[in-house]
Amino acid sequence: MTTAIIGTGGIGSAIARQLAAGGEALQLSSADKESARKLAAAFGGAAVVALDNRSALQEADAVVLALRFSVLKDVIDEIADALGDTFLVVPSNPVELDPQGKVVRLLPEGQSSGQVVAGWLPIGTRFAIAFGTMSGDLFESSSHRSPKPAVLFYASADEHGSDEVEHLIRTAGFEPMRIGGVEQSSRLEVGGDLHDLVVGSAEARSLVVGA
Ligand SMILES: NC(=O)c1ccc[n+]([C@@H]2O[C@H](COP(=O)([O-])OP(=O)(O)OC[C@H]3O[C@@H](n4cnc5c(N)ncnc54)[C@H](OP(=O)(O)O)[C@@H]3O)[C@@H](O)[C@H]2O)c1
Repeated sequence: MTTAIIGTGGIGSAIARQLAAGGEALQLSSADKESARKLAAAFGGAAVVALDNRSALQEADAVVLALRFSVLKDVIDEIADALGDTFLVVPSNPVELDPQGKVVRLLPEGQSSGQVVAGWLPIGTRFAIAFGTMSGDLFESSSHRSPKPAVLFYASADEHGSDEVEHLIRTAGFEPMRIGGVEQSSRLEVGGDLHDLVVGSAEARSLVVGA
């Protein structure tokens, strides 16, 4: 599979490293062109830098929007008519730091980022909230855990699971576990009960069901 990663900052770089290590072909695009170039150079032929966000989607089976929540809608508007059947993955948490360095949520209580993103996307776009469920450092250090992989939770509308995001999660060295529809995404974000957890599948299942 080929996956586009738009945004090569903290989490985009971490996702790119784990996917490239797992053999995924990558198209990278970022406002920070230098970081995209450095990442691609580190992966050899496994990744190329696209001309721009829209070009990154050409021949991509999936696209990861590794962007701050505040720029997500603008980038979705920019690429919307080029999305076609491309599966979309959103790691963004709806948070930012206030001037005092405190984490503040950008959405009203009770409103999930998954529902908001669904409203920004062209009708019929398939997507998952995934890969933003733990800090980049924890994500990289927990990848390919032995003897049993750690779980990476995701939320999506596909009741029987989303093959594309499950492929990416396995490629990155985790066991995928769907927690429910995108309206459940608050559980995965900073402050959610399933955020920053490194657990095996039995414990993960009981946490998902037991809430
Ligand atoms: N970092 C983590 O450990 C982590 C973990 C879990 C979830 N998350 C979530 O993931 C999201 C991204 O976080 P981050 O820490 O990776 O942020 P970040 O380090 O600021 O990275 C965002 C990247 O997107 C680029 N960008 C900005 N506008 C763009 C545009 N219009 N088109 C293409 N690229 C653009 C930025 O380039 P410039 O720097 O040039 O603006 C930067 O490379 C946030 O919502 C965060 O909550 C982060």
